[in-house]
Amino acid sequence: MTMKKKIVFATNNAHKLEEVAAILGDSFEVLSLREIGCDADIPETADSFAGNALQKAQYVKEHYGYDCFADDSGLEVDALDGAPGIYSARYSGGGSEANMDKLLHNLTGKSERGAQFRTVIALLIGEETQLFEGIVRGVITEARRGEGGFGYDPIFVPDGYELTFAELGAEVKNRISHRAKAVELLAQYLNERK
Ligand code: IMP
Repeated sequence: MTMKKKIVFATNNAHKLEEVAAILGDSFEVLSLREIGCDADIPETADSFAGNALQKAQYVKEHYGYDCFADDSGLEVDALDGAPGIYSARYSGGGSEANMDKLLHNLTGKSERGAQFRTVIALLIGEETQLFEGIVRGVITEARRGEGGFGYDPIFVPDGYELTFAELGAEVKNRISHRAKAVELLAQYLNERK
């Protein structure tokens, strides 16, 4: 029996871990931060998604020595010059509901509602560094719709659909999301490289 290669996903988000392990699980043992004994608050102080993802992956590689990948994502709104972007989680300083309120308020009266979710995954494996990006385009609604998902899901309708991410449900979202696209590229790369 061949041993599966160990690789760390620099997250403790069980949902993300499960999603990624489902794609990579045949060839890789995907370990969370908790599983390698890392409970540090890893710094995320760069000024881009790629910078933050790299910073997290580098932290793990340096301190724990594992091959590693990390992700960073957020929502970029056209009429707000790409805001909230890397500040998506802390846009209002008050959590998801307050973040959506602030965003809807800042778009009041604007007819340009285009936006995108973007994920960048940074992979450090052996001596290599690779970046993978996933984008899903869509529009920001006038008001919240739906109960599913998290973050900005209730106010984002992906192109080609009429329902928000919160209404579409996990099965559809996990097929078309920014994160799914980036993870797919990562998986393709790792599976071809192994
Ligand atoms: P993270 O880097 O994946 O933790 O995402 C940072 C922030 O971006 C989250 O706290 C959310 O506010 C927002 N975000 C990222 N992905 C999604 C998504 O799929 N739906 C809704 N909000 C998201």
